[in-house]
Amino acid sequence: MKVGIIGWRGMVGSVLIERMKACGDFEGLTPTFFSTSAAGGEGPEVDGRRYRLADAFDLDALADQEALITCQGGSYTLDVHPRLRAAGWQGYFIDAARALRMEQDSVLILDPVNRQVIDRGLEAGLKTFCGPNCTVSLLLMALDGLFAGGHVEWVSSMTYQAASGGGARHMRELVAQMAQVGDDARALLADPASSALQLDASVSATLRSEGLPRDNFGVPLAGSLIPWIDAPVDDGQTREEWKAHAEGNKILGSDRAIPFDGLCVRVGAMRCHSQGVTLKLKSDLPLDEIHGLLGGANEWVDVVENSREPSERLLSPAAISGSLKVAVGRVRKMRMGPQYLSLFTVGDQLLWGAAEPLRRMLAILRGQL
Ligand code: HSE
Repeated sequence: MKVGIIGWRGMVGSVLIERMKACGDFEGLTPTFFSTSAAGGEGPEVDGRRYRLADAFDLDALADQEALITCQGGSYTLDVHPRLRAAGWQGYFIDAARALRMEQDSVLILDPVNRQVIDRGLEAGLKTFCGPNCTVSLLLMALDGLFAGGHVEWVSSMTYQAASGGGARHMRELVAQMAQVGDDARALLADPASSALQLDASVSATLRSEGLPRDNFGVPLAGSLIPWIDAPVDDGQTREEWKAHAEGNKILGSDRAIPFDGLCVRVGAMRCHSQGVTLKLKSDLPLDEIHGLLGGANEWVDVVENSREPSERLLSPAAISGSLKVAVGRVRKMRMGPQYLSLFTVGDQLLWGAAEPLRRMLAILRGQL
């Protein structure tokens, strides 16, 4: 299969290429690596071969591919995709960006959760496949067993989203902020006689200082948090919050929309998004049945016992970062009644939240999954 890959150098693209190499996806594939800025230059090395870069704006070269995978971003998609289709290109377009997610003729891809929706799309001749928003994908991976059984009446998620969701520069900025906080507090830390209040005053002064790097977040994230992600939409919601309902229901292919609502918050984690979830079940399912449904839904969900030691050790960005596991824990019934469930989940936003659904879609098209 001839496959063009655009945006392979960026963060999501790099994780995608890493995963494709690790899974042997390049075997039997004829890849072309495209670049928006360095056509003719050296591309990545795959299986001992160094690839030359093609021009990501060369419509003929793009149209020569049976499938394109892009992690280049929404503006590139909106520029190139309509022109390719207008020129009659019939290939598969697999896109990490949000640009085409809500189009009628696109499918949101999260195959462990919605393989039937993907297959229906393929049977209907659809050619545009979009990776969903990372928070939504990770939530649905985690709650797969409850959604698949039709047990969820509504769900509300409070997120703790990592810096990586903003992009590579945001990750660097978070660490630069942390470094500055540490540098400024070094003398106090070294002095056993200094008090926690002195230390706090130093940290607050650093966070409020002009010199704190903040070009990307605009405000301090280290030692703080940001309760706003993406642009405003209606009703006081952010777009990130809006996506849960819009994309969540599109992924599930729900006949009747399940209400998703919540609040999205950026925290100082690097690449794992966590979510505190409240949901209402349609019936009073026993907890052991809920555990079984959650853990049995797909091979990546890891149900963590609701006790202190495993929750601290296994249910955190530090534990999950770089892994395909989606941890779900703190599962318990709430005081509001036996149909109300509380739980916490953590997943790597660059893997199941971004790259993994894309490479798996290619494998589906190749009949390998
Ligand atoms: N919008 C997400 C975030 C990134 O800002 O964390 C992945 O969709």
